[in-house]
Amino acid sequence: MRRPLIAGNWKMNGSLAANAILLEGLRAGAVAVQCEVAVCVPAPYLSQVQALLAGSGIAWGAQDMSVHESGAYTGEISALMLRDFDCRYVIVGHSERRTFHAETSELVAKKAARALAGGLIPIICVGETLAEREAGQTAQVVEAQLSPVLAEVGGQLDHIVVAYEPVWAIGTGKTATPAMAQEVHELIRANLAKRDADAAAGVRLLYGGSMKPDNAKELLAMPDIDGGLIGGASLKAADFLEIARAA
Ligand code: PGA
Repeated sequence: MRRPLIAGNWKMNGSLAANAILLEGLRAGAVAVQCEVAVCVPAPYLSQVQALLAGSGIAWGAQDMSVHESGAYTGEISALMLRDFDCRYVIVGHSERRTFHAETSELVAKKAARALAGGLIPIICVGETLAEREAGQTAQVVEAQLSPVLAEVGGQLDHIVVAYEPVWAIGTGKTATPAMAQEVHELIRANLAKRDADAAAGVRLLYGGSMKPDNAKELLAMPDIDGGLIGGASLKAADFLEIARAA
């Protein structure tokens, strides 16, 4: 049985004061939630999150990390540094990293491997653009994004999470219909199963892209949607908790 995971992606939002209010709200509300809950926050706030969420049952993580282990990589943050703050998760390959920082699927796969080696669970993001969907290339694009992941971490599927985030649905208010999302989730699981069928059956596949309290339930009801990666709605405790309660 796959325990659903609702993970927040705060992106480049927050301040010490605003985070304190949000985290207090999450801590208070999380007791009534059955699924696993996590927040992926900007790195400077990891120590605050560690202090305020310790013992709450809510996990935390980062939004990116370096592919390198350590050394002369100015500005980069390593997996081991994230572990120092008790991070459980790290998002890799978010479409904003792929678009604004030219991250390739090969690099993303290597980051996933580095995360695993450092004791972190990578949340590996894949998804097509609107142009790719309209050209009928969704399956092809997602398979091409997964292929290096399977090559790098195919033997460790037990320890990864995959998030399907159609780029056209991120931050736009446009959500994939449950049927559209399920179709891609099924394809992702089938792809993983070619490498390791048993492990693939246990991999949690999150949907992300304008998931909100009013559409979460129907998305999460689909057989291969095992949770959500939530951007905008993770910044309000009430909305984020409502999504978590729907899982
Ligand atoms: P959104 O973002 O929920 O604001 O669409 C999701 C994401 O980018 O992870």
